Amino acid sequence: MIKLIATAAFGLEAVVKREVIALGVSDISVLDGRVDFSGELSDIAKANIWLRSADRVLLNMGEFNANTFDELFEGTKALPWEEWIPENGKFTVTGKSVRSRLFSVPDCQAIVKKAVVERLKTRYKTEWFKEDGPEYKIQIGLLKDRATLTIDTSGPGLHKRGYRPIASPAPLKETLASALISLTYWRGDRVLLDPVCGSGTIPIECALMAKNIAPGLNRAFVSETWPCMPGRLWKDARAEAKAVEIADIQPQIFGSDIDPKAVELAKRNTIKAGVGDFIRFETKALKDITLPGRYGITVCNPPYAERLGSAAEVGRLYKDMRSVFAPDATWSLNVITPDEFFEKTYGKKADAKRKLFNGRIKTDYYQYAGEKPGRNR
Ligand SMILES: C[S@@+](CC[C@H](N)C(=O)[O-])C[C@H]1O[C@@H](n2cnc3c(N)ncnc32)[C@H](O)[C@@H]1O
Repeated sequence: MIKLIATAAFGLEAVVKREVIALGVSDISVLDGRVDFSGELSDIAKANIWLRSADRVLLNMGEFNANTFDELFEGTKALPWEEWIPENGKFTVTGKSVRSRLFSVPDCQAIVKKAVVERLKTRYKTEWFKEDGPEYKIQIGLLKDRATLTIDTSGPGLHKRGYRPIASPAPLKETLASALISLTYWRGDRVLLDPVCGSGTIPIECALMAKNIAPGLNRAFVSETWPCMPGRLWKDARAEAKAVEIADIQPQIFGSDIDPKAVELAKRNTIKAGVGDFIRFETKALKDITLPGRYGITVCNPPYAERLGSAAEVGRLYKDMRSVFAPDATWSLNVITPDEFFEKTYGKKADAKRKLFNGRIKTDYYQYAGEKPGRNR
């Protein structure tokens, strides 16, 4: 068994935990910003290919108390680096230290690098490493004097699905978009609408979920280049993912935006993501929208006054939202925004409010629940 960590943005740990459970792995535990679990080598491939809301998958090499540089050196040297890093492996060390005696991150990085080199020197019986082979990004994390040593298995962050090479001016991270959908009552048979869709991230992530398409199916991961990860593990994980895609579902997903260029971009990205047939896009101002059906779910990130548009325009948009969505009590509205006065301008207190980060921006996710289908249908 190997120990793995799925890193999660602040506030999304519970969503990532659900995704980790779905992988069928064991020993799952949740900590701030991460979900730990144990699995087989093949779970490195599965986790990278399947996790929708996690930022990356790390291999947890070991944890130990490190109050002094000596303890850090010896603890690092005792770990089995040679099981993962080949003789020609190229490795870098990054670090962070929170509330720990060893607070100089550059010194900790240098010590970890030296300890790994010492370990590999004795194992490979050499004094000199060319470092011209596959890449290994080691991280030393110190939290309250406890060191955690990891190797990144993902490479570019998991939000890089490969379908969005170009984005609109203020795009939402794909990982956050899928988490926003998971935090609603949306299921494959419910209508989903993003009336300010920009480059289409929310509708695209929703279509991938509806069709059970693995988000990482069409991209590469750094651990694919590692000799210890046989190519067949990746081939099998991708074949298994293809086999569970749902063909016979026609999801009802809608996206619109006032900007025709954004809509064009959204359409292009949708085709790249392989879900071009499942989303209907149109150029339309939010105030002119006709709701596409009943019991629908709106998930959106309207423009932030500090990034796009003026405060007055953004305020007008919130009021338009109220007049479009409030008349139909079967619709749910879910809005992510850093605007502390959203509820005041919108004119109603949210049923739930959750703190999340959109990149570095502190935001709230305001959720207004609509009537559930079945009760009044
Ligand atoms: C923050 S961006 C949305 C980003 C999107 N989620 C993405 O991932 O690319 C906000 C979008 O709202 C659109 N917008 C602004 N005012 C609008 C209005 N009155 N009606 C419809 N769309 C509007 C902008 O054109 C912009 O694309």
